[in-house]
Amino acid sequence: MKILHLLASPRQEASNTWWLSQQIVSRLRSLHPQAQIVLRDLHASAIGHVDAAYADALGSPGFVEDAGAAQGTLALSDLLIAELEAADQVVIGTPMHNYTVPSVLKAWIDHVVRVRRTFGITPDGKVGLLHDRPVHLAVVSGGRFTGASARQPDFLTPYLKVALATIGLHDLRLTVMEGLAAGAQVVRSERERVAMELDRQFSRA
Ligand SMILES: Cc1cc2nc3c(=O)[nH]c(=O)nc-3n(C[C@H](O)[C@H](O)[C@H](O)COP(=O)(O)O)c2cc1C
Repeated sequence: MKILHLLASPRQEASNTWWLSQQIVSRLRSLHPQAQIVLRDLHASAIGHVDAAYADALGSPGFVEDAGAAQGTLALSDLLIAELEAADQVVIGTPMHNYTVPSVLKAWIDHVVRVRRTFGITPDGKVGLLHDRPVHLAVVSGGRFTGASARQPDFLTPYLKVALATIGLHDLRLTVMEGLAAGAQVVRSERERVAMELDRQFSRA
């Protein structure tokens, strides 16, 4: 049993994103005590933008990668896809940045959503090539973006749903902590609320 934990907050382990995604990881660990946790801190590992060789390879339908010869972002893509393929469950901790995912998470997506490798193209559209597995999505925001009190659009959760579904990951489980910019009191009450929500969710698992 392997759990891949992706962290996309620039505040890393000091962040509410870390706190929330760790709540999920620790509940998974209680259910699967033997689980191996692989942490991919997207800031610490400084995943950059894809390079020209990568874009050329993806744009060449006849491109065949020489085994073990990939370089630059193509090699990083191989590594990140292998990490994802090896995971039985995935936890993605992400803040909302300008209504969508932080650029480091977008960079990760550009490395793993890869034509002819993680999705294929058919006359009916794109078809995911990875087998499905639970993806726990932990989203943290300064303002509110769900329900009647939302005061901003949400391009994060619909975007991630489509990007992950493209490669075959449809089993998305969303947990949100929002409105945290209002101060420490809201952070405390959101932590309490979400801990109870996760206890309920995982007691049914
Ligand atoms: C560059 C940047 C852009 C942000 N954009 C938004 C936004 O569009 N909507 C929002 O609600 N919060 C936004 N925030 C606030 C974060 O989502 C918020 O601080 C969240 O609580 C993340 O906290 P953490 O770093 O403790 O995980 C932004 C923060 C940064 C640094």
